[in-house]
Amino acid sequence: MSRAEQPQIDTSIAHPARIYDYLLGGKDNFPADRAAAERVLATVPKAREMARANRAFLQRTVRFLAGEAGIRQFLDIGTGIPTQGNVHEVARQVAPDARVVYVDNDRVVHAHANALLAGDQTIAVLADLRAPDAILGDPQVRQLIDFDRPVALLLVAILHFIRDEEDPPEIVARFHAAMAPGSYLVISHATGDFDPVAAAAAAQAYDKAAAPMVLRSHPEVERLFDGFALVDPGLVQVSHWRPDPGDAASHQQVWAYGGIGRKATPPTRPPAPLAMRAARAASAVQWHLARHLPREPATTSGAAGTCWQKPA
Ligand SMILES: C[S@@+](CC[C@H](N)C(=O)[O-])C[C@H]1O[C@@H](n2cnc3c(N)ncnc32)[C@H](O)[C@@H]1O
Repeated sequence: MSRAEQPQIDTSIAHPARIYDYLLGGKDNFPADRAAAERVLATVPKAREMARANRAFLQRTVRFLAGEAGIRQFLDIGTGIPTQGNVHEVARQVAPDARVVYVDNDRVVHAHANALLAGDQTIAVLADLRAPDAILGDPQVRQLIDFDRPVALLLVAILHFIRDEEDPPEIVARFHAAMAPGSYLVISHATGDFDPVAAAAAAQAYDKAAAPMVLRSHPEVERLFDGFALVDPGLVQVSHWRPDPGDAASHQQVWAYGGIGRKATPPTRPPAPLAMRAARAASAVQWHLARHLPREPATTSGAAGTCWQKPA
């Protein structure tokens, strides 16, 4: 594609990535993004702290995955504009061989990710979460991620930009089907559960942005983990998910839920009912006896292998 044919970045429309960048104190945003972010701040003055708490949640989950969970490959969809403590940096503090694929549908994010994040065992891909099969089949993604081995899928602060009619549970299910047992899913998601009126007013700031913000309740977010078992402490406010010792933010009210789910390893063979197991054991004994008992009446000579038998 020639330069002239490349779609241009429309900076007159606010974009979730750049609104978030502004809330985090970044510089990669435009007047439309700043205006939308200021509308959020007008109704939720703590929005900056909430954005930081979400980012800290992402970093704690990556530390857990690379450490305790032993994950070595990460698929981070909805990367955001690079800032401090990006996924591959956090993962490699624990596991230097960690591989990371960054996926985002925003060209600004993609350009920055390509310039700042891509490198040895790390790539940036321009793609849309709403087309999961395209991501799963992307040759670049496949080159770095082996879906036959456990992988961590990070959907952090992205699913609330997917409308109900775009079917977020089905999108997650597509990934679930492709992921090996022992894989993990991380989600954080905005909610109106704590202050429905203020949260809805803040979400309205996204109505004219590139994607709307859809607030979801605890049960609705939990449903996105279908097929995954939530690890401790379950689905909680992001600030309450395994906070670091002495973390002041752990007391903070953050209007976003976060959690990690693990795709179970299937049992190698389904456990047989008790009666069936008893019958199987009995027939194994019969087979063993038939095979090892001498056919002729045994002598009582005391020779090895015969002295067990009753004398005639
Ligand atoms: C709020 S930022 C979150 C960044 C990072 N995950 C974090 O939590 O710090 C949301 C990101 O999702 C991206 N995004 C939104 N909708 C998307 C979609 N349908 N496909 C891919 N990326 C999307 C935005 O461009 C943005 O970079």
